[in-house]
Amino acid sequence: MTIQDSSGHPLSGASPRAAELYGVALGQLQCYRGDPVATLAEATRDSPGFVMGHAMLAWLYLTASEAEPLALVRQSLQAARSLPATPRELGHLQAATSWADGAWHRAARQLEDISIAYPRDALALQIGHLLDFLTGDARMLRDRISRARPQWSESMPGFHALLGMQAFGFEESGQYDQAEALGRRAVELNPQDAWAWHAVAHVMEMQDRVDEGIAWLGEDVAAWSEGSFFAVHNWWHLALYHLERDETARVLALFDGPIFGHGPTTAMDLVDASAMLWRLQLRGVDVGDRWKAVAEAWAPQAGAGWYAFNDVHAALAFLCAGRSDLLEQVREAQRQAIAGSGDNVMFTAEVGAPLLEALAALAQGDHGRAARGLRAVRPIAHRFGGSHAQRDLNDLSLIEAAIGSGDRALAEAVVAERVTSKPTRASTAALLRRAWGSVGAGQAA
Ligand SMILES: [Fe+2]
Repeated sequence: MTIQDSSGHPLSGASPRAAELYGVALGQLQCYRGDPVATLAEATRDSPGFVMGHAMLAWLYLTASEAEPLALVRQSLQAARSLPATPRELGHLQAATSWADGAWHRAARQLEDISIAYPRDALALQIGHLLDFLTGDARMLRDRISRARPQWSESMPGFHALLGMQAFGFEESGQYDQAEALGRRAVELNPQDAWAWHAVAHVMEMQDRVDEGIAWLGEDVAAWSEGSFFAVHNWWHLALYHLERDETARVLALFDGPIFGHGPTTAMDLVDASAMLWRLQLRGVDVGDRWKAVAEAWAPQAGAGWYAFNDVHAALAFLCAGRSDLLEQVREAQRQAIAGSGDNVMFTAEVGAPLLEALAALAQGDHGRAARGLRAVRPIAHRFGGSHAQRDLNDLSLIEAAIGSGDRALAEAVVAERVTSKPTRASTAALLRRAWGSVGAGQAA
């Protein structure tokens, strides 16, 4: 009897027990919950010839978007390389190899090919979706999933994850009504689907529905946070809403609690820590010595140069903690990345390096240079990944730079964008007042 996954794809080299564990790991990944790495390690111990067990381990290490696990990625791929495998399985191994080699876009395309041929391959869809996120491809965030959707039905295991991913794709494409409906349905189908909770949280964020956002995530905190390795990011979204209500004590409590209180070490979590402190600082909130701790947590990754989006967030912590030694490590890593190969050349040269210098100028009070740098990078910032909500940091920084340089016209222009998209926020009115008050040197110069 051929061992298959829950969608009927053969699983080469798997015992029934290993196949069962693969299903468990996939379910964990689909909810961002539990420890799928441990589950798969057990599966490959049970069946050392289990190709998709090794492939999925490689994918999990890659989705960390960090340099350090790359050795583990290569070990997993090496373990699978000489094993008998189906064309679908070989496709996974080739795509994971591409990503490990730094070819993020090629990996995303190879996963597209798998999804076109095998639209019910949930793992290919999900890793592809994450790559679309990490490379800032809003269209494929939506359409990779939309292509496969006709081949799926509600009775299939993991259908909630398909809806959750499609919801996020619609959200990043500005189709908020569809996004919200799909995300809510996904959570109905599986209340522990942290990605679906997140998709709806993004809708609330983008549609200026701050109170509703707090109510949404408050509906069942345990469902999206307990045992979830995506919890920090959803806590970060909750903190963003509170920041919009000027509830800074609550934001700092969330920062000191579930966002950073547990001493995170992963880039995924540390990005949120940096981004939240930077936003607080832009609002003039005294963040105490928190930057110091965040900089310490980022320190081991200062010289990574693997993913420009992470490097910029690490650099924010080094800048604000006064760690010029570590900041120089990031700059050196950026120079090496640009001189290297793979897609991080573009991520870094076009976005990461110029953005770091613009934000450094802002932190050092050179507002005119910061404004020029941020304006240059803003239209292409999606190329180094992240969501619209995350990249709002650039807009907020640009407004601050424009105000600080006394360029009232520029400040008013950028704030006017927010008057349209985020009209009811207290922060929009506050920024508008500050923009009106920013007559000065920039215009005279
Ligand atoms: Fe998000």
